[in-house]
Amino acid sequence: MKLLEEKILAEGKAVNENILKVDSFINHQVDPMLMEQLGAELASHFKDSGVTKVVTIESSGIAPALMTAKALGVPMIILKKEPSKVLNENLFQTVVTSYTKGTSYELTLSQDFISEADHVLIIDDFLANGEAATGAIRLLHKANATIAGLGVLIEKSFQPGRQKLEAQGIDVYALARIARLEKDLIEFY
Ligand code: G4P
Ligand code: NA
Ligand code: NA
Repeated sequence: MKLLEEKILAEGKAVNENILKVDSFINHQVDPMLMEQLGAELASHFKDSGVTKVVTIESSGIAPALMTAKALGVPMIILKKEPSKVLNENLFQTVVTSYTKGTSYELTLSQDFISEADHVLIIDDFLANGEAATGAIRLLHKANATIAGLGVLIEKSFQPGRQKLEAQGIDVYALARIARLEKDLIEFY
């Protein structure tokens, strides 16, 4: 069994049929040694894709994205959910709606850090409905960058994220794919 799957079985908790709690190593406390290994696995999948930058969405995507970027030897960029209070005209923005949380936010990227020369790998902790990743792709396209793929730690395969992204031609790679959740039960693909 794979490293992340073992950790999920050991420490993850299925709250109900929709939500997997992984607060002890991803969302609240972070296990840096594990994260470094997972980042290396993500980097290894995309190593021949010509990635120039890794992009993530704050906040829980930052840890895996940083480790992936380090393994690839490229910079990491954090898409913000709240624009800086400091006046800045040079921003790309797009609205993202989260079905899991029932909220919307304005995803923001400075024009200074991405250009048409970039081939971007998007990294996040979870892939659920795919709205965050789709928003990130919209922003990167505004910057005329191209997309190398999407790498996530955990995909909830019973939700439509992967299909939505593959329909846009995106290479989706997940380290753990969850087929089914039920209170206190976790099933992988
Ligand atoms: P989507 O982007 O795939 O459409 O996902 P969705 O809007 O449904 O998810 C919204 C937030 O909920 C995201 O975090 C996502 O990582 C998180 N999430 C979705 N499903 C799960 C789950 O089963 N377990 C856990 N722990 N989180 C889940 P966020 O709002 O961007 O916040 P942050 O954690 O990155 O700060
Ligand atoms: Na996230
Ligand atoms: Na999250």
